[in-house]
Order: sequence, then structure tokens, then C-alpha cells
Amino acid sequence: MEKWIPFIPERASTVAGRVDALYFFLVGVSVFFALLIAGLELYFAIRYRRRSPGEMPAPVHGSMKLEMLWVVIPFLISMVMFAWGSSLYFTIYRPPKDALDIYVVGKQWMWKLQHLDGKREINELHVPVGRKIKLTMTSEDVIHSFFVPAFRIKADVLPGRYTSVWFEATKPGRYHLFCAEYCGTSHSGMGGWVTVMEPADYEGWLSGGRAEGSLASTGEKLFQDLACVSCHRSDIQGRGPALKGLFNRPVRLEGGQTVIADEGYIRESILNPRAKLVAGFPPIMPTFQGQITEEQLLQLLTYIKSIGPEETPAAPPSPEAQAPSGGAGVTRKENVKQ
Ligand code: CUA
Repeated sequence: MEKWIPFIPERASTVAGRVDALYFFLVGVSVFFALLIAGLELYFAIRYRRRSPGEMPAPVHGSMKLEMLWVVIPFLISMVMFAWGSSLYFTIYRPPKDALDIYVVGKQWMWKLQHLDGKREINELHVPVGRKIKLTMTSEDVIHSFFVPAFRIKADVLPGRYTSVWFEATKPGRYHLFCAEYCGTSHSGMGGWVTVMEPADYEGWLSGGRAEGSLASTGEKLFQDLACVSCHRSDIQGRGPALKGLFNRPVRLEGGQTVIADEGYIRESILNPRAKLVAGFPPIMPTFQGQITEEQLLQLLTYIKSIGPEETPAAPPSPEAQAPSGGAGVTRKENVKQ
């Protein structure tokens, strides 16, 4: 179907057809009115040309009907564009809850990708076909932009915060990945490939190679190495807030406001702990700005997500209470493999 339209990249995601439909509608409307206006200009110039040197046309005093026509019709058309465009926008930039998480760090000039089970890739991304994939992305330096034309997704990757985009690939294959934001000398070389595989092949690929431990378990180790665990305890109330079940829940702050503990909030709390103090806790946490890399931040984030609501409340408050949190990470990984 796409063969007969030149310059259109292959369609390999669930939203690709919808993006193209909107694109063709916008182009169609523009071409229709451009031709209509240019044609009428030409026609009127000939039809109403001055036929004798003294010819003067009768003055025109406006027409309410005509005025309304060229206000109402463009208004309706632009409202269609607005509603259609925003519905598509929200589809693409609001990741579904059941998506598989993959973390992306952009830097001059490469893409670093981390899978939940700990597998890492550079400028290559392997994903299963027919599975929703959520990318949580950040940059180590300047602004980049993650662009896969065949999936019709593009999202800026910004230093100092997380952005996300999702897709579901519809056919196996290899698709070009680009950086779509000029980011320095080798911007044009900052690309790679997304390999979409049958689920069985993907499982095989995932289990191959060296095992580094899941992102959450690496994060848990980091959580201990950085001594986060000495204040954020899971057995007793420590000097810092307990983190169990924290992710995506509302948090009451000193000063009365409430924020949702999403990726951005957790990131900010690690790098700049005093920005949003949890009600009832003193400002004693040191900053980790400059001490951990973006990838380590993502590992910590995955760990904090993993000690989420899956934890059984029946777990005894003993020193072994650390163990179930590691277990929760495993549970999460198994969920992913379903
Ligand atoms: Cu990164 Cu352009």
C-alpha cells in the first residue's frame, strides 16, 4: 500500500498509519486551498480584466454572508486538525501502563540503551514484535532527539530530565534510528538500528551474552553502596522516608502540596533533595549531583520502582526484610516476560 507513495518510509508500528493519515489530510487541505486560490486568481484576472482604458468597476461594499463563509469554514477545518492532532499526540506521548520499560541515555554521539534485565546496547535496540515498549530517556550532555521514521515516533531527549515515548512494532525487521536534533560535530553519525524480533527470538537474544544482573538488582546494590539504605530503611522508620510502594503514589511535601512520585520526582530528589522535602523529614539528605551517572540514576530509579506495591505486607520486619525487595525485582522481571 505504501509502495505507490514515494518518499514515505515503511510503516512498522501501530501508530504509523494514523500519523500518515493525519499528514495526508494536512497536505491534502493545503494543496486543495492552494490550487483553489491560485486558480481563482488566474480566472478572475482574466475574467474581470480591464477591457477599455476608461472602464471602472462598481464599488463593492462587503457581504456578511461571504465574510461568515471564510471565517467559519477555515475555523471548522482547523478545529478538525486540532482535535485529530491532539488525540494522536496524546496516544503517542502517553505510554500505556502495561508497556515494557527500556531506558535510553543519549550522549555526544551515541545512544545507550538498557533493558530491565540488565542487558545493555549501544546504537542498537532489540525489541519484540507486537509488544508495547516505553522508552524513558535522558541525556548526559546536550539535547538529542530519538527518531525512528518507520515507527513515526520522535521525542526530544533532554539533559536534566526524563522524557518518554512509546511504540508497538508491527513487523520484524531492522529500522533506522536517528538523532533528530543538531547536537554537535558528529550529530549526523548519531544513529543506529532498531531490530524488531519475533517474541521467541527476542527471548533467545535476551538470554544470550553475559548476565550482568537486572537493572533493579544493580540499582539495589548501588542503593547499598551509596548508603541510601542507612536512612531509607525498609524494616523500621529511618531518618529518610521509606521507599516501599512509593512509585507513582502521591507524596505530601513540607508546605502542604502533594506531588506524584514519578520518574522526574525521584530523579530530582536524588540530585537535589531539598527541592521537594517530604513532610515531617529534616533536610539532611546530601545531593548526589555529579556523583552518579545518568545510567546509575536509571538503575536506582528501576530499583525504587521495583520495591513497589508487589511487596507482600506480610513480610516480617526483620533484618531479612531486604530480601523480599530483591525478590520483587525478580517478580517484576517475570511479569515482563509474560
Ligand atoms: Cu544527538 Cu544529534
